[in-house]
Amino acid sequence: MAAAIAPTTTLTAVPMVDLCGALASAQDAIHRNLEEMHARGQYILGPQTVAFEEAFAKATGGKYAVGVGSGTAALELSLRATGIGGPECNVPDCDVIVPAMTSLFTAQAVLAVGARLRVADVSPEDLLLTADDVRRAWTPKTKAVIAVHLYGQPCRLDEIAALCKERGAVLVQDACQAHGARFRGSPLSDFSACSAYSFYPTKNLGGLGDGGAVVTNDPEVAERLRLLRDGGRLGDQTCRLPGVNSRLDEMQACYLRAFLPFLPEWNARRRALAVRYRDALAGSSTALLRFDDDSVNHLVVAKSAQRDAIRQHLAGRNIQTGIHYPVPIHKQPGLQPFATWADEPRNASNAAREVFSLPAAPHVSDEMADYVLRGVKEF
Ligand SMILES: Cc1ncc(COP(=O)(O)O)c(C=O)c1O
Repeated sequence: MAAAIAPTTTLTAVPMVDLCGALASAQDAIHRNLEEMHARGQYILGPQTVAFEEAFAKATGGKYAVGVGSGTAALELSLRATGIGGPECNVPDCDVIVPAMTSLFTAQAVLAVGARLRVADVSPEDLLLTADDVRRAWTPKTKAVIAVHLYGQPCRLDEIAALCKERGAVLVQDACQAHGARFRGSPLSDFSACSAYSFYPTKNLGGLGDGGAVVTNDPEVAERLRLLRDGGRLGDQTCRLPGVNSRLDEMQACYLRAFLPFLPEWNARRRALAVRYRDALAGSSTALLRFDDDSVNHLVVAKSAQRDAIRQHLAGRNIQTGIHYPVPIHKQPGLQPFATWADEPRNASNAAREVFSLPAAPHVSDEMADYVLRGVKEF
C-alpha cells in the first residue's frame, strides 16, 4: 500500500501550490492512519475523524472541533448552530454582515441559511473588516457578522466581538485561511462561539479534497453541530432536527491528522517567505499589503496599478500567480440580487482591480522566491 511519493514535474517553474513535499514529510503517519482505517473498515465518522477533531481543537487552542464537509459548510452550520437561519429559525428575516473582499463561499454560506447579505467595506491597508466598517453596515435586522481573517491575518477581534456583544448579534469567524492563527496570543475561539475552517488543498492545513471544521468552546454548540452535520442524527437513525449531510470523511482525516504536526513549521516558512517578499518590494510600485505578527500568511498579496501586465510577464517566466479576489461580493452577479450595502464598498472595489497573490506556500524555496522577485523587478 505504501506507494512512494515522487516529486511532480510541472511545467510551471514556480507554482502557487505543490503538496508533494507535504506528502513526503508526513508519509509514515499517512500510511499508518490509512492502514488503521482500512483495518477497521469504517469510512465515515470513525476514529480517524474523532482523533483529528481532538488534535485540531488542541492545536487551535479551542475545546471542541467538529469536522464537516467543507469550509462553506463550516460557516453555514456555524450560523445555524448559533440560531441564525435554517428551517427551525424563528427570526428568518435577518441580515448577516460580510466583508466585500472575501471568497464568494463566505457569502454562499449566508444565503444557504436563508439570511440576506449585508456587505461591508474593508480597510484599504490589509482588506480586513473593521469594527467601524461593521458599524456603518449595520441595519435594524442585523443578527450576525462574519469576520473573515483574510490572507491569514486575524481581524481586530477584540473590537468586533465587543460591538457584536453590545448589539446582541452573533459573531462567526471565517478562519478558512487562518489555521494556527491567534489574536494577540489568544485562541480565536476565545472571541466567538464558532470559528470555521476549510481544509481545501491550498490552505495552510489542507487535505486532498474538500473538508472543514468548526472550533468552539461551547459544549452545546458542539453537540448541535454534530447533529446538524449528520442529518439530525447522533449515531442512530433518529432525526432530532433538520440537518444536512456534511461530514469530514475518514480518509481526509487520515491525511489531516498526519499533516497537523507540521502546521507550525509550514506557517513559519510562509512567514519567512512573506517577509522576504515584503523587504524586497518595500517602497516599489508592487508593494505587499500590510500584515502583522498575528498573520499566518496564507497568501502573500501585492498591489499594482499594472496588475494584469505584471501577471502576464510573470506567467511568461513560468511563475504562477493568483487573484484573491477579482470580483468583490457586492459585484458578483449571482449574489448581487440578495445583497445590500450602505455605501459602495470602494476599498474592496479598488483592491479587486489591483491585488495579486505571489507563490509563497511552503514548497517555495528561497531560490524560487528570488526568481519571482527578479521577475517582478524586471517588469
Ligand atoms: C475566506 C474563505 N471562506 C470560505 C471558504 C470556503 O471553503 P471551502 O472551499 O472549503 O468550502 C474559503 C475557501 O476557499 C475561503 O478562503
